[in-house]
Amino acid sequence: MQTEESPISLPPQLPRLLLDWYDAGARVLPWRSDPQPYHVWLSEIMLQQTRVEAATPYFERFLAELPTIADLAAAPEEQLLRLWEGLGYYNRVRNLQKAARLVVEQYGGQLPADFDALLALPGIGRYSAGAIASIAFGIPMPAVDGNVLRVLSRVTESSEPISREETRRGMASALLAILPKDRPGDFNQALMELGATV
Ligand code: ADE
Repeated sequence: MQTEESPISLPPQLPRLLLDWYDAGARVLPWRSDPQPYHVWLSEIMLQQTRVEAATPYFERFLAELPTIADLAAAPEEQLLRLWEGLGYYNRVRNLQKAARLVVEQYGGQLPADFDALLALPGIGRYSAGAIASIAFGIPMPAVDGNVLRVLSRVTESSEPISREETRRGMASALLAILPKDRPGDFNQALMELGATV
Protein backbone atom coordinates (compact mmCIF):
# COMPACT_ATOMS: atom_id res chain seq x y z
CA MET A 1 0.00 0.00 0.00
CA GLN A 2 1.17 3.52 -0.76
CA THR A 3 1.58 5.71 2.29
CA GLU A 4 2.55 9.30 2.81
CA GLU A 5 6.02 8.17 3.91
CA SER A 6 6.67 6.28 0.67
CA PRO A 7 6.22 8.69 -2.23
CA ILE A 8 4.24 7.31 -5.16
CA SER A 9 6.26 6.48 -8.22
CA LEU A 10 4.78 6.07 -11.67
CA PRO A 11 6.23 3.86 -14.41
CA PRO A 12 8.74 5.89 -16.48
CA GLN A 13 7.38 4.32 -19.70
CA LEU A 14 3.90 5.77 -19.01
CA PRO A 15 4.38 8.99 -21.07
CA ARG A 16 5.52 7.09 -24.20
CA LEU A 17 2.65 4.59 -23.95
CA LEU A 18 0.03 7.27 -23.30
CA LEU A 19 1.26 9.62 -26.02
CA ASP A 20 1.36 6.81 -28.61
CA TRP A 21 -2.19 5.85 -27.67
CA TYR A 22 -3.29 9.51 -27.78
CA ASP A 23 -1.60 10.13 -31.15
CA ALA A 24 -3.31 7.09 -32.62
CA GLY A 25 -6.84 7.93 -31.53
CA ALA A 26 -7.38 11.18 -29.62
CA ARG A 27 -10.71 12.81 -30.25
CA VAL A 28 -10.45 15.84 -32.50
CA LEU A 29 -11.82 18.69 -30.38
CA PRO A 30 -11.97 22.37 -31.30
CA TRP A 31 -9.73 23.53 -28.44
CA ARG A 32 -7.15 20.93 -29.43
CA SER A 33 -6.77 21.78 -33.11
CA ASP A 34 -6.08 25.43 -32.23
CA PRO A 35 -5.02 25.66 -28.56
CA GLN A 36 -5.20 29.44 -28.15
CA PRO A 37 -5.05 30.30 -24.43
CA TYR A 38 -8.53 31.89 -24.34
CA HIS A 39 -10.04 28.85 -26.07
CA VAL A 40 -8.25 26.38 -23.78
CA TRP A 41 -9.36 28.36 -20.73
CA LEU A 42 -13.01 28.46 -21.85
CA SER A 43 -12.97 24.72 -22.63
CA GLU A 44 -11.50 23.84 -19.24
CA ILE A 45 -14.13 25.90 -17.40
CA MET A 46 -16.95 24.32 -19.41
CA LEU A 47 -15.49 20.83 -18.92
CA GLN A 48 -15.29 21.21 -15.13
CA GLN A 49 -18.88 20.04 -14.81
CA THR A 50 -19.98 19.22 -18.35
CA ARG A 51 -19.13 16.35 -20.70
CA VAL A 52 -17.21 17.00 -23.89
CA GLU A 53 -20.15 16.13 -26.18
CA ALA A 54 -22.49 18.50 -24.35
CA ALA A 55 -19.96 21.32 -24.01
CA THR A 56 -18.74 21.46 -27.62
CA PRO A 57 -21.72 23.31 -29.20
CA TYR A 58 -21.73 25.79 -26.29
CA PHE A 59 -18.03 26.35 -26.80
CA GLU A 60 -18.49 27.15 -30.52
CA ARG A 61 -21.41 29.49 -29.90
CA PHE A 62 -19.67 31.30 -27.04
CA LEU A 63 -16.60 32.08 -29.15
CA ALA A 64 -18.67 33.10 -32.18
CA GLU A 65 -20.33 35.79 -30.03
CA LEU A 66 -17.37 36.66 -27.80
CA PRO A 67 -14.23 36.03 -29.86
CA THR A 68 -11.75 37.75 -27.52
CA ILE A 69 -11.13 38.04 -23.77
CA ALA A 70 -11.91 41.78 -24.09
CA ASP A 71 -15.32 40.91 -25.62
CA LEU A 72 -16.00 38.58 -22.70
CA ALA A 73 -14.97 41.26 -20.20
CA ALA A 74 -17.41 43.75 -21.76
CA ALA A 75 -20.38 41.41 -22.36
CA PRO A 76 -23.71 42.26 -20.71
CA GLU A 77 -24.81 39.74 -18.07
CA GLU A 78 -27.93 38.72 -20.07
CA GLN A 79 -25.74 37.66 -22.96
CA LEU A 80 -23.47 35.61 -20.69
CA LEU A 81 -26.36 33.87 -19.00
CA ARG A 82 -27.97 33.11 -22.36
CA LEU A 83 -24.73 31.64 -23.71
CA TRP A 84 -24.46 29.47 -20.57
CA GLU A 85 -28.13 28.50 -20.42
CA GLY A 86 -28.38 24.71 -20.07
CA LEU A 87 -24.84 24.20 -18.77
CA GLY A 88 -25.76 25.09 -15.18
CA TYR A 89 -23.35 26.11 -12.43
CA TYR A 90 -23.67 29.74 -13.49
CA ASN A 91 -20.91 30.81 -11.09
CA ARG A 92 -18.56 29.40 -13.70
CA VAL A 93 -19.51 32.06 -16.25
CA ARG A 94 -19.64 34.82 -13.64
CA ASN A 95 -16.09 33.95 -12.56
CA LEU A 96 -15.06 33.71 -16.18
CA GLN A 97 -16.08 37.32 -16.71
CA LYS A 98 -14.48 38.49 -13.45
CA ALA A 99 -11.26 36.85 -14.54
CA ALA A 100 -11.54 38.32 -18.06
CA ARG A 101 -11.83 41.81 -16.56
CA LEU A 102 -8.69 41.22 -14.47
CA VAL A 103 -6.86 39.88 -17.51
CA VAL A 104 -7.77 43.02 -19.45
CA GLU A 105 -6.72 45.30 -16.58
CA GLN A 106 -3.57 43.47 -15.52
CA TYR A 107 -2.32 41.67 -18.63
CA GLY A 108 -3.56 43.69 -21.59
CA GLY A 109 -6.21 41.10 -22.48
CA GLN A 110 -3.85 38.11 -22.83
CA LEU A 111 -3.84 35.25 -20.32
CA PRO A 112 -0.54 35.11 -18.40
CA ALA A 113 1.77 32.22 -19.30
CA ASP A 114 2.37 31.42 -15.65
CA PHE A 115 0.85 28.75 -13.40
CA ASP A 116 0.61 30.90 -10.25
CA ALA A 117 -0.82 33.88 -12.12
CA LEU A 118 -3.47 31.61 -13.68
CA LEU A 119 -4.24 30.06 -10.28
CA ALA A 120 -4.85 33.55 -8.86
CA LEU A 121 -7.71 34.22 -11.31
CA PRO A 122 -11.33 33.63 -10.22
CA GLY A 123 -12.66 30.20 -11.17
CA ILE A 124 -9.23 28.69 -11.89
CA GLY A 125 -8.13 26.04 -9.37
CA ARG A 126 -5.04 23.83 -9.41
CA TYR A 127 -6.49 21.44 -11.95
CA SER A 128 -7.58 24.12 -14.43
CA ALA A 129 -4.37 26.12 -13.95
CA GLY A 130 -2.31 22.99 -14.71
CA ALA A 131 -4.45 22.15 -17.72
CA ILE A 132 -4.29 25.69 -19.18
CA ALA A 133 -0.58 26.13 -18.42
CA SER A 134 0.34 22.83 -20.06
CA ILE A 135 -2.08 22.79 -23.01
CA ALA A 136 -1.95 26.48 -23.99
CA PHE A 137 1.61 27.36 -22.99
CA GLY A 138 3.56 24.07 -22.87
CA ILE A 139 4.42 24.62 -19.19
CA PRO A 140 5.22 21.25 -17.56
CA MET A 141 2.61 21.20 -14.78
CA PRO A 142 0.33 18.28 -13.90
CA ALA A 143 -3.49 18.51 -14.00
CA VAL A 144 -5.05 16.05 -11.57
CA ASP A 145 -8.83 15.69 -11.38
CA GLY A 146 -11.00 12.78 -10.25
CA ASN A 147 -10.73 10.94 -13.59
CA VAL A 148 -6.95 11.25 -13.64
CA LEU A 149 -6.77 10.04 -10.03
CA ARG A 150 -8.85 6.98 -10.93
CA VAL A 151 -6.52 6.11 -13.79
CA LEU A 152 -3.39 6.57 -11.72
CA SER A 153 -4.78 4.65 -8.75
CA ARG A 154 -5.23 1.69 -11.09
CA VAL A 155 -1.74 2.08 -12.54
CA THR A 156 -0.14 2.17 -9.09
CA GLU A 157 -2.62 -0.27 -7.53
CA SER A 158 -3.06 2.34 -4.83
CA SER A 159 -5.82 2.04 -2.27
CA GLU A 160 -5.50 5.63 -1.05
CA PRO A 161 -8.92 7.32 -1.10
CA ILE A 162 -8.90 9.62 -4.13
CA SER A 163 -10.97 12.19 -2.28
CA ARG A 164 -8.07 13.04 0.02
CA GLU A 165 -6.06 16.17 -0.76
CA GLU A 166 -2.87 14.26 0.22
CA THR A 167 -3.63 11.67 -2.47
CA ARG A 168 -4.07 14.36 -5.12
CA ARG A 169 -0.86 16.06 -4.05
CA GLY A 170 1.10 12.80 -4.04
CA MET A 171 -0.10 11.95 -7.54
CA ALA A 172 0.67 15.47 -8.76
CA SER A 173 4.28 15.22 -7.60
CA ALA A 174 4.63 11.70 -9.04
CA LEU A 175 3.33 13.06 -12.36
CA LEU A 176 5.69 16.01 -12.29
CA ALA A 177 8.59 13.54 -12.13
CA ILE A 178 7.62 11.81 -15.40
CA LEU A 179 5.84 14.62 -17.29
CA PRO A 180 7.36 14.82 -20.79
CA LYS A 181 8.80 18.33 -21.04
CA ASP A 182 8.22 18.53 -24.78
CA ARG A 183 4.49 17.61 -24.69
CA PRO A 184 3.04 18.29 -21.21
CA GLY A 185 -0.36 19.39 -22.59
CA ASP A 186 -0.80 16.30 -24.76
CA PHE A 187 0.29 14.08 -21.88
CA ASN A 188 -2.26 15.67 -19.53
CA GLN A 189 -4.98 15.41 -22.16
CA ALA A 190 -4.09 11.78 -22.82
CA LEU A 191 -4.62 11.05 -19.12
CA MET A 192 -7.94 12.93 -19.13
CA GLU A 193 -8.96 11.13 -22.31
CA LEU A 194 -8.19 7.73 -20.84
CA GLY A 195 -10.12 8.58 -17.67
CA ALA A 196 -13.08 9.88 -19.65
CA THR A 197 -13.38 7.29 -22.39
CA VAL A 198 -12.06 3.92 -21.15
N1 ADE B 1 -11.69 17.38 -19.56
C1 ADE B 1 -11.09 18.43 -19.02
N2 ADE B 1 -10.22 18.98 -19.86
C2 ADE B 1 -10.27 18.26 -21.00
C3 ADE B 1 -9.61 18.34 -22.25
N3 ADE B 1 -8.72 19.28 -22.49
N4 ADE B 1 -9.90 17.43 -23.16
C4 ADE B 1 -10.81 16.46 -22.89
N5 ADE B 1 -11.46 16.34 -21.76
C5 ADE B 1 -11.19 17.24 -20.80
